[in-house]
Amino acid sequence: MSGTAILVRRIPFAFDEKIDPAWHPRRREWSHMVNGASLAMPYLEPFLIRTVTEALKLVSKPDLKADVQAFIGQEGVHFQNHRRYNEILKQSYPELADVEGALEADYRRFQQRSLRWRLAYTAGFETMTMGITEWLIHQRSILFGNADRSVSSLVLWHMVEETEHKNVAFDLYQNLCGDYWPRVWGTLFGAWHVAMASRKGYKRMLERDGLWRNWRSRLRLYAMIGRFAWHASPAILRSLLPGYHPAGVTDPDWVARWADAYAGLPQGDIPLLDTSDPEIPARFAA
Ligand SMILES: [Fe+2]
Ligand SMILES: [Fe+2]
Repeated sequence: MSGTAILVRRIPFAFDEKIDPAWHPRRREWSHMVNGASLAMPYLEPFLIRTVTEALKLVSKPDLKADVQAFIGQEGVHFQNHRRYNEILKQSYPELADVEGALEADYRRFQQRSLRWRLAYTAGFETMTMGITEWLIHQRSILFGNADRSVSSLVLWHMVEETEHKNVAFDLYQNLCGDYWPRVWGTLFGAWHVAMASRKGYKRMLERDGLWRNWRSRLRLYAMIGRFAWHASPAILRSLLPGYHPAGVTDPDWVARWADAYAGLPQGDIPLLDTSDPEIPARFAA
């Protein structure tokens, strides 16, 4: 259980139509890795929402019910914001519509699977997210320093809320299913599937940029994938231990600082971070 109520923040991020899809000026491959993940969100997150909504009918614990409802709320705002950003990406890369078609087909197929399968996928994907969250927040200076404020703020806000609801899909799976091996499988498959889905997106973008077969670009891409694997793997591996619970994992301090800063922000304001400050403090720029 989360212990404290999970807040649903209906933040309407706004993206400049002329935003450069290479939103990190020195890291085009990294920009496209994030863009590829963003492209998956309006297909993945509605699938998670449909899965937990169906499961909610079977839950009797009031705390868990409230957590699942908040999870639905947070994930709903996430994918709506990503979808707006993705529409801008598609203006530069119209071929991304094919990738979206493939994502839609994947999740339509997954929808036919048992509720236990879908809950294991949901808990598994959310587990991988924890590893990514820790990496992105701890290394935010390298990954977002001097990058576009709106995209950086979107991604880091998403990571904050993933931390806030990290227990929910796990608790739901444990409450309704609880078997160890499907959870292990869900974690490995969920992580692999989302990584592959993102790859489809960044491959198409790098192809259009003329960089997919450029060895320097490929090395930069592999270096970022290596960093991703290095940082996300411990979170995935620790989650495979039989006694694991995500509540036992310490959250980055920055998450609570971000939430405090947001609480002090006038209603309706968009929490834009200052990426020109090397620390990227949990403070919102005017
Ligand atoms: Fe999310
Ligand atoms: Fe999530």
